[in-house]
Amino acid sequence: MSFVSHHGNGKITVPDIQQRKSQAAGSPTNSGKIVCLTAYDYPTARLLDDAGVDVILVGDSLGMVVLGYDSTLPVTIEEMLHHTRAVRRGAHRALVVSDMPYGSYHTDTAESLRNAVRFIKEAGAEAVKVEGGERRLELISRLTEAEIPVMGHVGLTPQSLNALGGYHVQGKTPDAAEQLLRDARSVEAAGAFAIVLEAVPRELAAHITREVRVPIIGIGAGPDCDGQILVLTDMLGLTFGQPPKFTRQYANIGETISSAVREYCDDVRTSAFPSDAESYHAPQAKTRKTIPIAS
Ligand code: KIV
Repeated sequence: MSFVSHHGNGKITVPDIQQRKSQAAGSPTNSGKIVCLTAYDYPTARLLDDAGVDVILVGDSLGMVVLGYDSTLPVTIEEMLHHTRAVRRGAHRALVVSDMPYGSYHTDTAESLRNAVRFIKEAGAEAVKVEGGERRLELISRLTEAEIPVMGHVGLTPQSLNALGGYHVQGKTPDAAEQLLRDARSVEAAGAFAIVLEAVPRELAAHITREVRVPIIGIGAGPDCDGQILVLTDMLGLTFGQPPKFTRQYANIGETISSAVREYCDDVRTSAFPSDAESYHAPQAKTRKTIPIAS
């Protein structure tokens, strides 16, 4: 099965992601599953792109895992644009989606639209992601009418931290599960091309994935979604503190960095680094002539 896009150069496009819905559905081993990860800078975007990730999300998790904020709420548009530009420079094949940060789409629709346009024009994002279900219907319709592909995000929406009172699994009661399905259907009806579904029971995620015609990208939503996303630093072991239960840690880059830096500190302090081989030499030194020293 080939996922070559209309661009003919392997570039993943929004329609390619939409088409994966039917290919991923119903088969846990189907290679049509959509592979997504977050990235925040040029080198990691290049590595993810080369490794074959389909969608790179410049998530506003940036605020917590890269900028050291306590939540995603302080993240600004300028910060998101800056990091999106860096990711875009590193990603040539993957679809680059950028998170609209808190406050950038919560006032009036005209201002939200102007902000979304900035992500496309100034940072090279190919789509934007907004959090929220039914209440984003009008906004998502307006953005898609303006040719801005939108990825929805329902379930646990971290920008609702104050309203939710914490980061909790969503959709656990029958009423909450019904509401979540309505949210996903509204986002789909408004024109979103895919939906992130975060921190919901596996059974509910499977049900929503069956009921909605656009791809569902799960995070903490079990294995039955059309695709998966993780925060890169969580899966690489580069996040401080306890990562969420749903994360699988594939590497311990934090420990790799710490031990490399400890070794460097030792080498500098004991003069083991730099060595003669790691030094430049004056041409005269090779012929043992005296090097003229400027006075
Ligand atoms: O900000 C982010 O990284 C996200 C993902 C967790 C989906 O929204």
